[in-house]
Amino acid sequence: MSDKIKLAVLGSGKGSNLVSLAKACANGSLPAEIVLVASDVADAGILERAAEYGLPAKFIDPGKFRTKLDEAAETAYVTALNESGAEWVALAGFMRILKGDFLRAFEKKVVNIHPSLLPAFPGLEAWKQAHDYGVKATGCTVHMVDHGIDTGTILAQGVVPVLDEDTPTTLHHRIQQEEHTLYPRTLARLFNGEIRI
Ligand code: GAR
Repeated sequence: MSDKIKLAVLGSGKGSNLVSLAKACANGSLPAEIVLVASDVADAGILERAAEYGLPAKFIDPGKFRTKLDEAAETAYVTALNESGAEWVALAGFMRILKGDFLRAFEKKVVNIHPSLLPAFPGLEAWKQAHDYGVKATGCTVHMVDHGIDTGTILAQGVVPVLDEDTPTTLHHRIQQEEHTLYPRTLARLFNGEIRI
């Protein structure tokens, strides 16, 4: 039997973090197997990236709300994740708040990557918030997901300097480069027992 962690990845966007996780699983640096990629956006890049890497992927309708899952959708996500055998859930640009039954079903097993040094700049477009504020350094945070918005226990952070010539777009690009090493490395440390929650 495989001793790899069964990991599900949820995302709404282009899927660059999924690619970094898939590569780390393939080269053995992340002792995990991606058993499901799910998205709330039918034509999201993350579903195409999943297909390119031969990973099971599906769109799951998020229901009637804009920023969270409705009750039926929450059940559909939990059912799909359970059917996939997922033990851990990694959010990779999943732009909906998870609460209630979802977090109870995967208690202390949901991890997120956020594009700022939390607790600074929670919420949307954190790189733009940091740029607009004028901070000289920002970065990314891997954290446990709890009932708040970007409030769970911090597992690791990567620092990215803000350059005078940065625009929000160039800054986000460099933050994402940092994400692509920090996320797989942190999940590996978590699954190897090097990080205790
Ligand atoms: C990432 O930069 C991630 O940090 C951010 O969405 C992007 C997804 O990119 N997440 C959030 O803002 C969550 N609040 P990707 O689809 O290329 O991985």
